[in-house]
Amino acid sequence: MSAVLETPVPVFRPMTDADLDQIIQIENSAYTHPWTEMIFLDCLRVGYSCWIMEVDETIIAYGVMSVVAGECHLLNLCVKPDQQNSGYGSLLLEHLLILAREHKANIAFLEVRPSNHVALHLYQQAGFDEVGMRRNYYPAVIGREDAIILARHLA
Ligand SMILES: CC(C)(COP(=O)(O)OP(=O)(O)OC[C@H]1O[C@@H](n2cnc3c(N)ncnc32)[C@H](O)[C@@H]1OP(=O)(O)O)[C@@H](O)C(=O)NCCC(=O)NCCS
Repeated sequence: MSAVLETPVPVFRPMTDADLDQIIQIENSAYTHPWTEMIFLDCLRVGYSCWIMEVDETIIAYGVMSVVAGECHLLNLCVKPDQQNSGYGSLLLEHLLILAREHKANIAFLEVRPSNHVALHLYQQAGFDEVGMRRNYYPAVIGREDAIILARHLA
């Protein structure tokens, strides 16, 4: 189980365009190769499930997934760096998987860098198993990095 959450308890709500300034700041501070604002705008426009987790009306984490034809694809899961390792990532993942089930997904997929040990640990703790690999999928600081494909049944 993750670190015990201290109060206050975070609130979940759908993401809107108005959140993108804060989100881009977090995204840029959390990833070596962050998504651009245009990518988030596209996700919102096509109706992906985009969620915010906030405390005292300040965004501390967010997640983006698509749920189509019984499959959930987790596309982004990010916790603000100064809030990491406090249980919020696990909580957000759990929230997204509950929503995916409610939208009739019976399996969830995601991709992760082999070097992202914390994310890999989080997903394995949540019951995801490796089902494949995409070679040279991600841009890296030097060259490219593979993506591990993980999946978890949601039944
Ligand atoms: C990956 C990420 C979402 C995890 O969120 P988090 O809130 O930090 O994770 P949690 O606090 O819920 O912890 C999840 C597990 O990872 C462990 N963990 C978290 N941070 C850790 C660290 N820095 N070192 C070692 N273990 C760590 C926790 O102990 C916990 O393990 P447990 O369940 O066995 O106790 C977060 O680190 C993040 O946003 N990283 C940058 C963006 C990213 O890489 N996203 C994933 C893309 S695939």
